[in-house]
Amino acid sequence: MRKLFLTLFGAVLAFATPVSAQTAQGAAMSKPKILIAYYSYSGNTAAVARAIQAQTGGDLYEIRSDHTYPDAYRPMTEQAKQEISSGFRPAMTGGAVDVASYDVVFIGSPNWWGTVAPHIHSFLESVDLSGKRVIPFVTHGGGGVQNTARDLTAACKGCVVEQNGWAGYGAGTAGLADWVAGLKL
Ligand SMILES: Cc1cc2nc3c(=O)[nH]c(=O)nc-3n(C[C@H](O)[C@H](O)[C@H](O)COP(=O)(O)O)c2cc1C
Repeated sequence: MRKLFLTLFGAVLAFATPVSAQTAQGAAMSKPKILIAYYSYSGNTAAVARAIQAQTGGDLYEIRSDHTYPDAYRPMTEQAKQEISSGFRPAMTGGAVDVASYDVVFIGSPNWWGTVAPHIHSFLESVDLSGKRVIPFVTHGGGGVQNTARDLTAACKGCVVEQNGWAGYGAGTAGLADWVAGLKL
């Protein structure tokens, strides 16, 4: 009888756990695993990636390549322009990342001629992000988002790409904290 009473008492206690505590437990259990993948040529996008990392606690992954560009700015931009129009895909050298274990993937790129850098396509073609929440962030030199988010969305097959990504001038991060908070990760 005593045993039955204790069992029943335990069951009542279990069901009596406050809703707020249950919600907190659920939120802790469902905290998404976050990856911040980015390509950066001159450091701006890398700086924004680090700021996102600092706020979200996600893992950073730099999309790297041995592919080179001329030192001089104009020839560099001309080469990039030609590569974009020809669909060139630089080989990646940064090692593999196990994207399957992540729920949310930020993808960062500089705005190159109104679109994402070719390195982003190399990355997207090397991973399966289908079904994942993908959040773009771009840095630019005054042109804003242009076609970067649209082109990334088209290239990310089966992904759920947020359309309210980050588009910031250079390495600036003013407003970034509010933007990340608004994503409700
Ligand atoms: C090849 C090339 C093309 C660019 N095209 C644009 C552009 O179309 N619009 C724009 O606003 N900025 C453009 N920029 C400026 C970069 O988007 C900007 O400096 C960016 O923050 C650089 O990021 P990073 O330092 O991570 O490489 C271009 C820069 C380069 C090198």
